[in-house]
Amino acid sequence: AGLADAFKDDFFVGAAISTDTLMQDDQQLLGLIDREFSSVTAENCQKWEEIHPAENQWNWEASDKFIEFGTQHNKHILGHTLVWHSQIPASVFTGDEGLPITAKALLGRMENHINTLVDRYRGKVNTWDVVNEVVSDNGYGSWRKSPWFNILGKDFMEHAFRTAAAADPNAELLYNDYNMHYPAKRGFLTGVLADYLDRGVPINGVGFQAHYSLEDPELDEIEKSIETYAEMGLKLHFTELDVDVLPKAFDYMGAEISTNFEYSEKLNPYPDELPAMVQEKLAERYAKLFALFVKHRDVIERVTTWGVTDAHSWKNDWPVKGRQNYPLLFDREAKPKAAYHAIRRLK
Ligand code: XIL
Repeated sequence: AGLADAFKDDFFVGAAISTDTLMQDDQQLLGLIDREFSSVTAENCQKWEEIHPAENQWNWEASDKFIEFGTQHNKHILGHTLVWHSQIPASVFTGDEGLPITAKALLGRMENHINTLVDRYRGKVNTWDVVNEVVSDNGYGSWRKSPWFNILGKDFMEHAFRTAAAADPNAELLYNDYNMHYPAKRGFLTGVLADYLDRGVPINGVGFQAHYSLEDPELDEIEKSIETYAEMGLKLHFTELDVDVLPKAFDYMGAEISTNFEYSEKLNPYPDELPAMVQEKLAERYAKLFALFVKHRDVIERVTTWGVTDAHSWKNDWPVKGRQNYPLLFDREAKPKAAYHAIRRLK
């Protein structure tokens, strides 16, 4: 029947579920997810700022609903994401009375966060995104100067994996990041991960976020990445796939976007609907990507799209407001797009 069924001999096909969908108990969308997908990720509700906004405060409601949905419908369940520099309260990195926090105290907070979350869903969450995005965007060859790194040094990442593995020895543990195909980033990460595998740090695989566009990255760059990480013995997940159809906004940033007609037209070229020609390009791009994934099905465990319908994609209004994007497999009315049919035709 659904998309996931078509690829059931290859890999899980998943979708991220938004906090709104869970809290509103949106039966139309949840029904669609149940029919089409075999794996689910929480888009935001398990992030530190949402689930653990203050030291002794936990908001379990949306996350519990997410786990309940996944369990009831027999989905491969992702936990997302334990240790990240983003969407985390600044108070985590602040000591008593506003003094700088000690390394020991911060490690304690990290352990408490991981233990509480992983323990609650032990035996239910199949795979955790343990650590997210540790590489600097400046040259891609060094550690990101996040508070985690600045206070704890590079070992914060290893510590997170060891803590998660102790909390649920049966869960699969991933490192998750974007642009993992950049040569400098690939070089840096394979160095870190090879050392982990050598020393027995518990990590099972890597997540390629796969926030792609119509042209970038090229297929052979993606394939080279698949081969490089797989040769190390790591399992591969495509964790947040979407295909941006809009021009790169960063090329125009700094311009008076909202007041300058020329720029706003360039940045939001499809305010009403996606022209048939671009629909076709998107379909071709998705079909080529899925054909590549099928080719490497022995090492790819899962392909998850970051959302379900274009209406709710984080790629709308990003990185500037007012943009209408079309990155997913279902349109704003939750109807399957040409891209969906193109993927189905592979099977
Ligand atoms: C995004 C969500 O989709 C948005 O709703 C939120 O405002 C910001 O985060 N990398 C990740 C995801 O690992 O958690 C991010 O999700 C997208 C980038």
